[in-house]
Amino acid sequence: MSDQRLLPLIEAVAAQLQAAGISQSNGLGQGTQTTFDEAAWLVLWSLDMALDSDLDRIGQRPVSGPELSRVRALVDRRVTERLPTAYLTGQAWLCGVPFVVDKRAIIPRSFIAELMVDATLDLWLGDHTRRALDLCTGNGSLAIIAALTYPELQIDACDICPDALAVARLNLQMHELEARVQLIQSDGLRDCPGPYDLIVCNPPYVNAASMARLPPEFRAEPVLALAGGEDGMEFIARVLQQVGRYMSEKSVLLLEVGHERANFEKAFPQLSPVWLETRAGSDQVLLLERDQLLATDPLPAR
Ligand SMILES: C[S@@+](CC[C@H](N)C(=O)[O-])C[C@H]1O[C@@H](n2cnc3c(N)ncnc32)[C@H](O)[C@@H]1O
Repeated sequence: MSDQRLLPLIEAVAAQLQAAGISQSNGLGQGTQTTFDEAAWLVLWSLDMALDSDLDRIGQRPVSGPELSRVRALVDRRVTERLPTAYLTGQAWLCGVPFVVDKRAIIPRSFIAELMVDATLDLWLGDHTRRALDLCTGNGSLAIIAALTYPELQIDACDICPDALAVARLNLQMHELEARVQLIQSDGLRDCPGPYDLIVCNPPYVNAASMARLPPEFRAEPVLALAGGEDGMEFIARVLQQVGRYMSEKSVLLLEVGHERANFEKAFPQLSPVWLETRAGSDQVLLLERDQLLATDPLPAR
C-alpha cells in the first residue's frame, strides 16, 4: 500500500533531482528546462500516462505501491547514471511530435522546428518551395516536422553517421513518411543531389571550451553531433562555402548556431543574416538567402 499522490510525488522527484545537482544549468535542456518538468516526464512515463496530462485535474490521483517502485527505479537511474530521460525512456517530443530516440542520435530539440510550426518561415516560402534538405538530420526530427508542416514538400535528409540514419529510419516508419523523406548518408553536402528550395541545418556547433564543460547527460550524446571545433564554426564554414551551389533561385538556408552567435559573426563578418526570434531568443537561428551566399562565395578557407 502507498498513500502517495501524483502531484506530491512529482514535486518530491523534482526535489530529488535538484538535490542530486541536476538543474537548469547542469543536466537539463534535452527536452525540458525545469526540474519540475523533468520530474513530471519521469513520473508520468513510469505510470504510462500522457506527458501532457492535466495535473490540476488529476494531481491527487493515488499512486499504488508497484507504480511507486517503477518511478523510484527510473529516477534512481536518472540520478545515478546521469543519462538523459529521453535515452532512458526511448522517446522524445519536439513541438508536440513524438520521436524514437536512443544514444545513436542526439535528442531532438532544435529551435528550427518551432519556426516551421509557428509559420515564421512561411515568409520565405511559396509555390516554388518543392524540394527541401535537412542537412545533419540526426534522428530525422526536422525533416519529419517539415514534412508534416508542408504537405507538398519532398525532402532529402542527410547525415554522415549511419547510426543516426538508422534512428531516423525508425522515425520515418513511425510517421509513415518514407515516401516523402529520402535518407542520404553524406559528409556535409557532398552526396546531396540538390538544388533545394529550402535547406534547414542544425549542425555540430559547440565550441571546444564548452565541449570540455558538458554535463554528463550531454556527454552521453554522440560527440559527432555536438563538437564544432575550436570556435564551433568548423562544419558551418564548410557548409557556407558550398551551400549556395545547392540552392535554387529563391532558396533560403535556415541555420541553428546555438550560443555561438558571437563566434559566427566573428568568423563570417561579410554575411548579414536575418536572426529569427525563437523561445531561446533572437541569436540562435539565422536565415540566409542564396544570393547573399553566392555573392560572398568563396568564404575564407579554414
Ligand atoms: C546537432 S545534431 C542535429 C541533429 C538533428 N538535426 C536535430 O536537430 O536533432 C548534428 C548532426 O550532424 C551530424 N554530422 C556531423 N558531422 C557531419 C558531417 N560532416 N556531415 C553530415 N552530418 C554530420 C551528426 O551525426 C548529427 O546527427
